[in-house]
Amino acid sequence: MALWLVNDGGNFNRPRIFNFLSQYKMKSVLNYKIGKEGGKKTQHPTEKPEFLIRGLIEIFTNPGDIVLDNFAGGGTTGVAAYKAGRHCISIEKEEGFIQMIQQRQQQAKSQKKS
Ligand SMILES: C[S@@+](CC[C@H](N)C(=O)[O-])C[C@H]1O[C@@H](n2cnc3c(N)ncnc32)[C@H](O)[C@@H]1O
Repeated sequence: MALWLVNDGGNFNRPRIFNFLSQYKMKSVLNYKIGKEGGKKTQHPTEKPEFLIRGLIEIFTNPGDIVLDNFAGGGTTGVAAYKAGRHCISIEKEEGFIQMIQQRQQQAKSQKKS
C-alpha cells in the first residue's frame, strides 16, 4: 500500500507535486511481480520492486528533493531515489539490513560512474 500524506489544512485532492509521466505510467492500480520474477535483489523478506518505488518518487518529488524512508529494509527506496536524481534519508534498525543498504548504495554509485 502506498500512502500520500500532507499537512496543508486538509486539501487532500491537490498534491503539491504531481509530475505527469507517460500515460502508460499513470495508473491508479500498479500491478507488479514480487520475488525473483519481480527482480528481487536482496535477502530482505519484503523488498519492493525498484521500478515501482522509482515511479512513485518521480511522480511525487522533483529532482534534488529529499525522500525519507523510515523503514528502509533492503534499501530499495534509497537506490531508486539516487537513480532518479533525488536524495534519500534511510532509517533502519537491523544492523544486517543497514549493511545491505550501504552496499546497494555503493553499487548504485559505482554503476553510475562506469
Ligand atoms: C516492510 S520492511 C521495508 C522494506 C523496504 N521498503 C524494501 O523495499 O526493502 C520494514 C523495515 O522496517 C524496519 N523497522 C521496523 N521498525 C523500525 C524502527 N522503529 N526503526 C527503524 N526501522 C524499523 C524493519 O527492520 C524492516 O526492515
